[in-house]
Parts: sequence; C-alpha cells; structure tokens
Amino acid sequence: MKITFVGSEATPFAKTGGLADVLGSLPKALVQKGHKVSLIIPKHQAVKTGFNDSLKAVLKTTVNIHHEKKYLGVETLTHQGVNVYVVDNEYYFGLRPNLYGDYDDGERYGYFAHAALTIIKDVLPKQDVLHLNDWQTGLIAYLVKYDAKYRSISSLSTLFTIHNIAYQGRFSKELMSHLDTEYSDILEFDDVLNFLKAGIMAADHVTTVSPTYTENLQHAYFAYGMQGVLKYRGESFSGILNGLDYETFDAATDDAIVKPYTTDTVSSAKKANKKALMEQFGLKNPQLPLVAMVSRITESKGFSLVADVVPDLAEKGLINFILLGSGDPYYEDTFQYFHDANSEHFGIYLGYSDGLARQIYAGADLFLMPSRFEPCGLSQLIAMRYGTLPVVHKTGGLKDTVEPFNEYTLEGTGFGFDQFTPDDLKQALLLAISVHGDSDTYKLLQQRAMSQDFSWDQSANAYLNLYQEVMNR
Ligand code: GLC
Repeated sequence: MKITFVGSEATPFAKTGGLADVLGSLPKALVQKGHKVSLIIPKHQAVKTGFNDSLKAVLKTTVNIHHEKKYLGVETLTHQGVNVYVVDNEYYFGLRPNLYGDYDDGERYGYFAHAALTIIKDVLPKQDVLHLNDWQTGLIAYLVKYDAKYRSISSLSTLFTIHNIAYQGRFSKELMSHLDTEYSDILEFDDVLNFLKAGIMAADHVTTVSPTYTENLQHAYFAYGMQGVLKYRGESFSGILNGLDYETFDAATDDAIVKPYTTDTVSSAKKANKKALMEQFGLKNPQLPLVAMVSRITESKGFSLVADVVPDLAEKGLINFILLGSGDPYYEDTFQYFHDANSEHFGIYLGYSDGLARQIYAGADLFLMPSRFEPCGLSQLIAMRYGTLPVVHKTGGLKDTVEPFNEYTLEGTGFGFDQFTPDDLKQALLLAISVHGDSDTYKLLQQRAMSQDFSWDQSANAYLNLYQEVMNR
C-alpha cells in the first residue's frame, strides 16, 4: 500500500508532545511491514537546525493563501525507510521558534494544508491512503473532498486521527476569506472556524488513539463540544491503541542509563540505576519507594491532585519523588517550592532532557500518571517496559494499558484509581507503597509489566486493516 502521513510534528525532527512520537514510529512500523510510506511535516526551525544538511530540494513552487502566491519549497530525506517531505517557507515556519501559539496559526496551517496537497498531487506517485493527524491537518480532509483544485486526488481514502480533542484549531471567521477555498458550514462550529471539526466531518474515517478514549468522547465532559459531531460519524469513528517504539525504548540497550537490564536482571540493575539517579537529585534514603513523573506540567496531567497528595507523603517519609517536565508557570512554581522545602525527598528538573527522562524511567520504582483525561499516553508504556510500575487514573488509554493490582489474585501490571480525587490517588499510592515493601510481589508485577507487548506490531496491523476497509467502501 502507498500511505502518506501528514502532521505538524514528528520525532526526531520536531516535538512538543506525543503526536510526534506516533508520527516518528507508526510510519516506520508500516515500512517494516513492506509498505511505501511518506510523511509530510512543516520545516520548523528545529528541522532546519537539525537536518538541513540531509535535505534535498525536489520542487520550488507557490501556494495561494491570503490572496497572495506564497513560496513553497519541497525538500526530502529518507529516515528509517520513510520518505519524509518537509514544507519549506521561512516566514510561516523557518523563522518561528514555536510550533504553535502564534496569532496567525490559522493562516500558517491553512498554508500547510495547501502545501501538503500540492506535494501529494505534484510530487508523489498516486497514493492509496492519506492519514491526517490533529487539527493542523483537518482542513486537508476538507480540501481533498470538496475543493475542485484537488480533483485529481479526490479519490484518495482519508483517515483523520484525533490525538487530543482539547486542541481544535479555532479561528475567527474572518480567516475564511483568506484560505483560498469555498466556505461551507462544515468548517464552522460555535460561530468560529474549527479545523478539527472540518477533519472529523470530511475524512472518510475518524479514529482516536485508544478504545476507552473513543467511548469517553461520546460525553461532553471529555469531548470539548465535539460529542455531537462524533456521534454523527457513527461507525466511521473508532479507536486504535498507540504502540511504543520498542527499539528506541529498551532497557537492555539504552545507553543513557547506568546499568542496562532485562526481565531477569531488573531487580539488581534497578538498584544501581536508582542509586545513580538519587545522587543526581541529592535524595536521601534509598529504601523508600522512588515515585517519578515525566510530564508536561499542566492541570490536565493531574497536577492539582499531585500537589495535594505527594508532598505530604514525602514529608511523612513514605516516598521520595522526582518530577521532570515543564509547562504551566503556576504549577512549576508550586513544585519548585515543594522541592525547596524538602530537597532531601523531593527532586525537580524543570525543562526537558531525553537522557535524564530515560534515567528516571530506569531508576524509579513507581511512575505516576494521574491525568484528568488521557487519549492514549506513552509514558506509562515506557515505564512498564522499564519495569517501573505505573500508578494511573483509570481513564482513556491509561485504562486500556495498565491492569490495576488485585490484592487477592496478585494480578496486575500497576495501580489504578477510579475517581479523579486526591483521596483516590492517595489510596492508590499507599497500596503501591505497601506492595513495594513486599519484594516478591513487587518483582512479580515488575516482570509482568516488562513482558507486556505494546509494540507497534498489532496497532500497525489494525491500521492496515482499517485502511483496506476504508479503501473498499
Ligand atoms: C496526545 C495525547 C496523548 C497521546 C498522544 C499520541 O499527546 O495527549 O495521550 O498518547 O497524543 O497519540
């Protein structure tokens, strides 16, 4: 099959979140199954800095947007068998330090939509499937289906994946006259343009990244207004769980960690990794369970609960805690304060470091992920792969991937709580702490978590089946 992915970020080129991990690994998994896969992303500043020397120019043309002809440079490289095409325009992407958040995001991603379709129409051989991701590509589904300029590729089967419905690409209706396409109410929701809605309505099939999040999205609480639109899609809306790149994340071969390990050597190696990690953060008392978070620091990741529960447990001498991430300044300050007040038990690194993140996955005992909602979540999969038991709010993909410990049968691969309340989180943590104290049970769970298979293999097959089904419709 010939499949083209379009998205706004992909590892190793540019990343702000989990979307990049998926676009950095699903295309590769499909290549390994014998398919021809292309990936189209903007040439963000980070792409320019990191990859300029490897990129080859294939086309120089223009795109109509905002009543003008704007430059489009198409450049390409091959990465892990995937044909990557970058959309080069200095003004829209190359000169901006941030991927999103500018006043003209609507125009920028409107340009990107036309640019991506120009590549598909004029550069690529005839494709079978166009797999679009998140609001930045919603307009593309609409243009393929309804804009006469793209008639030559209008028979392409389109799939639109929602990675996080909280981000919709909402723009004032004034933008409409600048997008170089005809208006339709498909593009509009609540009196503004909504690129995500356009994608949901126009694509041949819509997916999200876990079965439970698919159910969650039937309800207003999770769907941010889109519940009706999704209901309208009926059977053509479904969920496929994300995978994890098992080559990139492998405790046996990870050279960022002090002592690599397998299921057989996890107990002793973890002691060594934990010791090194605690020294880096200046933490005392290695007997205590080391609880860690690697996360964007935002309300939706559950930081209000963490602030209520975790400092208190650390204060009482029940746990050590490490936080790595950045985000909301309010929570950054709050957690910096907790560290300053109790630095022997509370470690913090505000910012991002891939190496340090891996050392945390390898050195911690418990991995905390109390997200208010979670479309899929990747960190809990990495944690399990590294034998670090996740403690999660049972929502979205967290519910689909972590089996909570059962005290009677000793089943489970982690710990879970039902209600998004400090008390529920606290009970789950107390149970995890007590299991950590029982080394036989703890080791059993650890080895079981490490033996789970969340590699891309199954999920890639599920996508292939779906592509085929959509093509046959
Ligand atoms: C978003 C979601 C996350 C998901 C990722 C990849 O970042 O918040 O849950 O794992 O996309 O699909």
